[in-house]
Amino acid sequence: MNANELRKTYIEYFGAKNHEIKKSFSLIPDDPSLLFTVAGMVPFKNYFLGKAPLVFTRAVSCQKCIRTNDIENVGRTRRHHTFFEMLGNFSFGDYFKEETIKWAWEFLTEIIKLPKNRLYVTVFTEDDEAYDIWKDKIKVPEDRIFRLGKETNFWEMGTVGPCGYCSEIYFDLEGGEKGRVSAEDIEKNDDRFLEIWNLVFTQFDKKEDGTLGELAQKNIDTGMGLERLAAVSQGVYSNFESDLFMPIINDAAKRTNKKYGEDEKTDVSLRVIADHCRGVVFLIGDGVLPSNEGRGYVLRRIIRRAVRHGRLLGLKKLFFSEIVPVVTHIMEEAYPEISERKDYISDIIKMEEEKFGETMDKGMEILEREIETMKKEGVQELSGAVLFKLYDTFGFPAEITEEILEENGMSADRKGFDEAMEKQREKAKAAWKGFNAELAEKIPADVIEKTGITEFMGYCVLYDEGCKVLGITGNGKELVSAEKGKKVEVILDKTPFYAESGGQSGDTGILKGEGFEIRIDDTQKFDQRHIHIGEVAVGTVKKGDLARAVVDEERRKAVMKNHTATHLLHSALRRILGNHVEQAGSYVGSERLRFDFTHFAQLTGKELDAVEAMVNEWVQESGEIEIEEMEFSKAKEKGAIALFDEKYGEKVRAVSVKDISMELCGGTHIKNTGQIGFFKITGAGSTAAGIRRI
Ligand code: GLY
Repeated sequence: MNANELRKTYIEYFGAKNHEIKKSFSLIPDDPSLLFTVAGMVPFKNYFLGKAPLVFTRAVSCQKCIRTNDIENVGRTRRHHTFFEMLGNFSFGDYFKEETIKWAWEFLTEIIKLPKNRLYVTVFTEDDEAYDIWKDKIKVPEDRIFRLGKETNFWEMGTVGPCGYCSEIYFDLEGGEKGRVSAEDIEKNDDRFLEIWNLVFTQFDKKEDGTLGELAQKNIDTGMGLERLAAVSQGVYSNFESDLFMPIINDAAKRTNKKYGEDEKTDVSLRVIADHCRGVVFLIGDGVLPSNEGRGYVLRRIIRRAVRHGRLLGLKKLFFSEIVPVVTHIMEEAYPEISERKDYISDIIKMEEEKFGETMDKGMEILEREIETMKKEGVQELSGAVLFKLYDTFGFPAEITEEILEENGMSADRKGFDEAMEKQREKAKAAWKGFNAELAEKIPADVIEKTGITEFMGYCVLYDEGCKVLGITGNGKELVSAEKGKKVEVILDKTPFYAESGGQSGDTGILKGEGFEIRIDDTQKFDQRHIHIGEVAVGTVKKGDLARAVVDEERRKAVMKNHTATHLLHSALRRILGNHVEQAGSYVGSERLRFDFTHFAQLTGKELDAVEAMVNEWVQESGEIEIEEMEFSKAKEKGAIALFDEKYGEKVRAVSVKDISMELCGGTHIKNTGQIGFFKITGAGSTAAGIRRI
């Protein structure tokens, strides 16, 4: 059977057994503990845990998955992949071991007709129940049933979550009549014995501290890689020789005037390109864009690894983006949306290919020279500094450099790399926090040094008494005093004035003291000082004076409404367009808000209407805004949207509206969404490929 038929046959088989047929969910899970969807059961996690009401108790799906734990092996073996599809049938407190085993066996031996004498099964060492079902009910001869330990027969999703003992079905690639097979053969000889189906009896919930809690209900989670099934069903040894991959490999081979199967080194590169093109197509199709962090970094790494293997095959021109239509053609029956997005996907790959292509040859030259020198000098390990330079200047993901070194029997100083990276992050962070080019011109460095960090009072109050004037500047000079008409910048020891950051504009208002009044038109941040920018309106202000700081309340309240509305908009976009939506910039003023985010297509009128309606519904629900300080890790665990993947300081500020939104945010917010009154989208557009603006 071809892969399309296998996928369909599987879904229909379980559909006929009253399983709810679910379309594949996104590769980006609705689960902050995971980077990607790694198994068919991931989208059903809350059903297993009994946290979501069960509208059905059986489900079947063919789920898109990405696993990235051993990318460096992809291409070198017959069956490592980044992207793969997992066929799975699930029971949430419905059927258990007996039906699962019976149906799996029937599907393999009677529906797709794999020969019984090439199948072997395993059970967890102590699982007599599963053993007996295989032996007595299915009548599998005992010399084909093996008991294996936790290593192979215990399945878990990640470090936490639903998990359990499993029973696995293996296919003998070399034929059934080759003498006695042992448990060790099954466990170790994966060239011959291919695990095709994993039946997990999901009974436990693994906790953060490693302990196993019993789930309230007994569940079933099965996983069968479509690529493996296609290979055995089509009588080929390697997943790459199935109809899911061969057309891609052939297309890439044609571009290089090479043939698959003639030279192992060439084959490795062709397999890398074929696998990675699938992964990249689906990642970009689900809204991931290349970047230096999180999912975007994984995507970048995959694209660059493929481009490098293209170079190894002599492909100098852009080629990777051109293979996209071959992938979308193979996959469009099951994933029509991929074909719809193929031009967009090609464009994103092309940009990344061009960017890396420009610096890659230069970087390769440096690395090759370095390897030569190391060989001469008998050095084994590339320094962290060079590893970092290749990353930072030439765009080589550290893992790719390490892979090249490994091909030469060498390694790299990863610790040194991490240190260099950390140093650069610190530098960037300091620059980001402190640097404001315009203010740097206006305020002499020694004024900054003489004044301390400003204490911000404006989360709770909009005016404050007794704020001490620590510094005054005007025309780029420090002033001891300033009189009526003078344009000034004022630094206080404490202030209710919010300084522009995180998209929220700075406050305006008045500083009033004995014999003076200063009109404040803007507040900016400079090296953790709030800089009040304005003009002396009455009298003379002197350094050391005390002032009453009064924020323009009406304006600030309007800003707060827009800021809370920005969070609601972000949440609505994620719900309507998908979890790939990430904030890419914002402006929050008193008169309007503007929001930039990642998404692959222009929003349709219908989508815009839906977003607007959803936000307005939340406004009308008058949900309370809760603000809480907590550890970064705790906030992420609770599902907060964090703009950056890095570690924040010890404590973060989580702004949430119950069941609607939770973001890490330093801005100021209203108390209740009802205060927003009404939300209206006045315009939608795009600022760059993949970045939309509302
Ligand atoms: N969830 C079962 C598997 O991934 O094998």
